[in-house]
Amino acid sequence: MSDQRSTMTTQLAIAIALHQLATVVWVGGMFFAHFALRQSAQTRLAPPQRLPLLLAVFNRFFVWVWIAVIVLWASGLWIFFGVYDGNMRWYVHVMMGLALVMTALFAYLYFVPYRALAQRVPAEDWTGAAQHVGTIRRIILINLGLGLVTAMLGSAGRYLQ
Ligand code: HEM
Repeated sequence: MSDQRSTMTTQLAIAIALHQLATVVWVGGMFFAHFALRQSAQTRLAPPQRLPLLLAVFNRFFVWVWIAVIVLWASGLWIFFGVYDGNMRWYVHVMMGLALVMTALFAYLYFVPYRALAQRVPAEDWTGAAQHVGTIRRIILINLGLGLVTAMLGSAGRYLQ
């Protein structure tokens, strides 16, 4: 293998590993939040216990989501332009489009309903807090669906004609 080709392959391996890890963190975290945490908290805890717990969970999880978003874009663009010079097939373009929608939805969730939730919980306004949790839940569900499709495209897209 020539030196140049082996450097490119190493770069690709590092970028794909980071890309894949960030996917696991973001999409796996949303799957857990929706299908395990939410349903258990809903059935087991009353609003004054449930809503502060959910806020504390979001405080921690959303930091990791920002890190995952940055890593996904940086590694994805690195593979796309740095390794393949922008010559990639349709499924990568679809991935980028879906990632753009997911990033925009997450930014909205973070700056609007999550910010509002962080104000409602200390004020012990459980009705208002529950409404914002409802909005966050719907956005996370949409992003979870988009994230699963994006992850499938990323790994299986290259085998499609
Ligand atoms: C939520 C966002 C994203 C998710 C969940 C995601 C997921 C994935 C997955 C699972 C892979 C397969 C990795 C492997 O080979 O094992 C992949 C590959 C890839 N992704 Fe993403 N990705 C996202 C965003 C992006 C963005 C923003 C870009 C920007 C250009 C991008 C560009 C790429 C490229 C170029 C590949 C390599 C495709 C190939 O070699 O066939 N991705 N992605």
